[in-house]
Amino acid sequence: MNLPRRVKMVEVAPRDGLQNEPNPVAVAVKVGLIDRLTAAGLPVIESGSFVSPKWVPQMAATAEVMEAITKRPGVSYPVLTPNMQGLEAALAAGVNEVAVFAAASESFSRKNINCSIAESLERFAPVIDRARAAGVRVRGYVSCVLGCPYEGAIAPPAVVQVAAKLAAMGCYEISLGDTVGTGTPGRAQALIEAVAARLPVEMLAAHFHDTYGQALANLLAVLEKGVAVIDSSVAGLGGCPYAKGAAGNVASEDVLYMLNGLGIETGVDLDRLIDAGAFISQTLGKPSGSKVARACKG
Ligand code: HMG
Ligand code: MG
Repeated sequence: MNLPRRVKMVEVAPRDGLQNEPNPVAVAVKVGLIDRLTAAGLPVIESGSFVSPKWVPQMAATAEVMEAITKRPGVSYPVLTPNMQGLEAALAAGVNEVAVFAAASESFSRKNINCSIAESLERFAPVIDRARAAGVRVRGYVSCVLGCPYEGAIAPPAVVQVAAKLAAMGCYEISLGDTVGTGTPGRAQALIEAVAARLPVEMLAAHFHDTYGQALANLLAVLEKGVAVIDSSVAGLGGCPYAKGAAGNVASEDVLYMLNGLGIETGVDLDRLIDAGAFISQTLGKPSGSKVARACKG
């Protein structure tokens, strides 16, 4: 197998995981989670969203979270910013990275951010420019890259178009989201081949939800195609309020166990990662979605 020597793990539980929790999660708990993830050695920890609290009330206190976490030098703590209002709030909170989020499906774009794909890209252009002028790097998400909860299968050209536009607008990395987790390894590889024909594969991240139990297989498939950035969520938390039925992201513990087994470097400590997952699972009062965490804790 031709695999990358090193993978950057992007932890998304504090945002993608907790945005989907039915009950509000206290700021202190979010801070406890993020600080434990930092201690585990993760290089990137997506920590919240500056979105409308009417749309996603779970992320309403992101400014307080950003204020209270202990930031480790060299670690990035990105937040989602759907528009200029979100970006201004993020800059005021002193963030060092933001993410804009588009979709490869028109229906999902409307449900998630209340505008068409074209309108969203128009809206992101000044957000990206302003962020970069402030010295803040910008990640771009494309959702529904392998399927849409409203439109079904999505063809790679739709993804390539949006990914290429986000890159041309100044995003340094493009995270490809299998939002509903319907992808399978062959389709995931075909997607990467299509996007990598337009953008350097080093720019691409895999953001796979595990709804159909395919995420690890899909990750191994895209690692073989040169993808070396993986989004995951400790304890397998996650989902999107606008993609009903979408299960959590692939569990970080399971991803790390697989990468360790393949001899791929990450700089992340599995025991500490399992501790972070145990902390949030116990606090939320539900079993971990990570098989590795369950196996290791007996
Ligand atoms: P809208 O209603 O069209 O916005 O929503 P608007 O500009 O008309 O504003 C309406 C109200 O929202 C106003 O307040 C604004 O001030 C307020 P009012 O005057 O009614 O009191 N508002 C804001 N408040 C705080 N922060 C802001 C903000 N913007 C407006 N930034 C909008 C458009 C984009 C705001 C809304 O649709 C929204 O917030 N959507 C976010 C949805 C979301 O967070 N989804 C989950 C994240 S995406 C995801 O999970 C997928 C991903 O994981 C990848 C994958 O898995 O595929 C990334
Ligand atoms: Mg997601």
